[in-house]
Amino acid sequence: MKKSNGTNKISTAVFISGRGSNLKNLINHSRKKNSKFKINLIISNNSKARGLNYANKEKIKKKIINYRVIQTAEKKILLELKNNKIKLICLAGFMKIISKSFIKNFKGKIINIHPSLLPKYKGLNTHQKAIKNNEKYSGCTVHYVSPKLDSGKIILQKKVKIFKNDSPAKLAKRVLKHEHYLYIKALNKILTNR
Ligand code: GRF
Repeated sequence: MKKSNGTNKISTAVFISGRGSNLKNLINHSRKKNSKFKINLIISNNSKARGLNYANKEKIKKKIINYRVIQTAEKKILLELKNNKIKLICLAGFMKIISKSFIKNFKGKIINIHPSLLPKYKGLNTHQKAIKNNEKYSGCTVHYVSPKLDSGKIILQKKVKIFKNDSPAKLAKRVLKHEHYLYIKALNKILTNR
């Protein structure tokens, strides 16, 4: 991946739709001297996403994109990415599908975090499904984004034990802590020696 912002850090955009705890964690890490990435842009389809507060607080450029027509939305996003010389996209709770043609434009440069041990439990309500199926473990996965939902090449996974009295919310909270750690570890893995 080409480094593009005058430092040795990769220019990165983070896409969010909601709370933004992964975004916050990525920002915190990006501020460290040894970080391999810098967050230049935050994209959201949702003007009310709580995570957008971090853009204001941290003075990071943000863009809210109207998703009524996906082709128009993606065209706008691609332009923003180009204008900001973005080389890497991190999806962090982004609730919109990324089209095949968009992925082609950013091949191998879009990463996502998903709260399950993929290929198990793609899509929504992952912890609820894992508990219902009496799984011993849930967890999280960082993977490349491919045209098929939650199906791209896996970068790293972390298993998290499911306890007998776990509710989906309790489990989600525990897994989230591991998500934060895993996302950074996965980025370090793919950005080393590039
Ligand atoms: C996380 O659980 C992530 O794995 C999933 O959506 C959630 C986003 O949480 N894709 P947050 O907005 O980063 O707090």
